[in-house]
Amino acid sequence: ARRDRGRLLDLHREVSRFFHSLLLKSPDAAHAREYLKSRGFGKEMAERWEIGWAPESARTFLDWAREKGVRGRDLVNSGLAIQRDSGGLYIRFRDRLMFPIRNDHGDVIAFSGRQLREDPRSGKYINSPETTLFKKSNVLFALDRSRKGIMNEKAVLLCEGQIDAIACHEQGIENAIAPLGTAFTPQHAKILKRYTKQALLCFDADSAGYTAAERAFRELAGEDFSVRVVRMPPGEDPDSFMQKNGTDAFRALLGEALNFFDFKIEHAKSNGGLSGPQERAAFTRDCAELLSVVSDAVSRDAMINHVATRLRTGVPELRSAVADVARKGA
Ligand code: GTP
Ligand code: MN
Ligand code: MN
Ligand code: MN
Ligand code: MN
Repeated sequence: ARRDRGRLLDLHREVSRFFHSLLLKSPDAAHAREYLKSRGFGKEMAERWEIGWAPESARTFLDWAREKGVRGRDLVNSGLAIQRDSGGLYIRFRDRLMFPIRNDHGDVIAFSGRQLREDPRSGKYINSPETTLFKKSNVLFALDRSRKGIMNEKAVLLCEGQIDAIACHEQGIENAIAPLGTAFTPQHAKILKRYTKQALLCFDADSAGYTAAERAFRELAGEDFSVRVVRMPPGEDPDSFMQKNGTDAFRALLGEALNFFDFKIEHAKSNGGLSGPQERAAFTRDCAELLSVVSDAVSRDAMINHVATRLRTGVPELRSAVADVARKGA
C-alpha cells in the first residue's frame, strides 16, 4: 500500500509539471495563457503555484503517460482517468486551467480544473475525486504555505475559492486558505486549531457565501475559535474585490471585520429579518441555536449578553433559549 501511495504521489508531481509546462509553452494553450492574463495573473504567479493546462486532446495526455511508463491502473486510481465500460480510459480534465492541490508537506495530491470558456454541459470547476491521497474534507487549499502567515497574523483568513486564496497570497496576505468545493468540515476546524484560534471569514458576498459562513461558524465555534466576518460589497469575492479596488482597500476591509453575531444582525437588518415581532422572534431563535454551538462557556455567555443587548431582549430569556436548544440537542 505504501508503494502504491508513493507511485501516486510521483504521478501527481509529474502530471503537475507536465500541465504546467504545457501552460507556459504549448502552442495549443495560447487561449489558456490569454485567460490567465485576463484575470490579472502573470507568468510568475503561474510559476509560484505551478498552475497548468490540461490538454484538450486525450491523445496528448495518454501519449505523455505512455512515454512516462505510467500504468493505466494508476491513472484510474489517481482520478485523472476513468475506466470506460468499453475498456478504454476517459480523461477527466480536458482543456482546463489546472490548480494543483497539495497536502501539508507540499506534495501534490489532487487537482482542481477551471473551465476556460463557459460551458453549462459541465461544472465551472472539476476536482479530483476522493482517492487514497485526497480526502477533501481533510484538505485546505494553500495551508501548506500559510502556516507561517497564520502564526504571524495569529489568525487564519478563510476564503471560499482557491483563486481567492491565491490572490491574497500574491498580495502578501499569507494566512489565506480555502476549502475545496466543499463545505467547511469539523475536520477542517480540528486541523486549523493546531495553528490558531482566530478565524476571519471572507466568503463571497452572495447567499451561497452567507450560508457557507454560518456553516463555518458552527464548526469553528464548536472548537473554541473566535470568528469574525469580512464584509464585501454584494457580488464580490476577495479576488474580484482586489482586482477592482486594490490590496489596500481589501486590507482595510479585513481590519473592519465584524464579530460573527454583529455580522449576522447586520445581515438580517438589511434583509428585513428584523422588521416585525415575528421576524425578530424567529431571528432570536436562530441566534439561540447558533449560540448553543459555542463550546467555550465564558465566550458563549459574553456572546449571549452582547446579542441580547443588540436585539433588546432579556439576557435571561436568551440564555434559557440557548439552554433549551442545547438540551434538545438541535
Ligand atoms: P472564479 O469564478 O474562477 O473566480 O472562481 P470562484 O472561486 O470565485 O468560484 P465561485 O465563487 O463560483 O465558487 C467558489 C468555490 O466553489 C470554487 O473556488 C470552487 O472550489 C467551488 N466551485 C464552484 N463551482 C464549482 C463547480 O461547478 N463544481 C465544483 N466541484 N466546485 C465548484
Ligand atoms: Mn479569486
Ligand atoms: Mn460564489
Ligand atoms: Mn467566488
Ligand atoms: Mn472569483
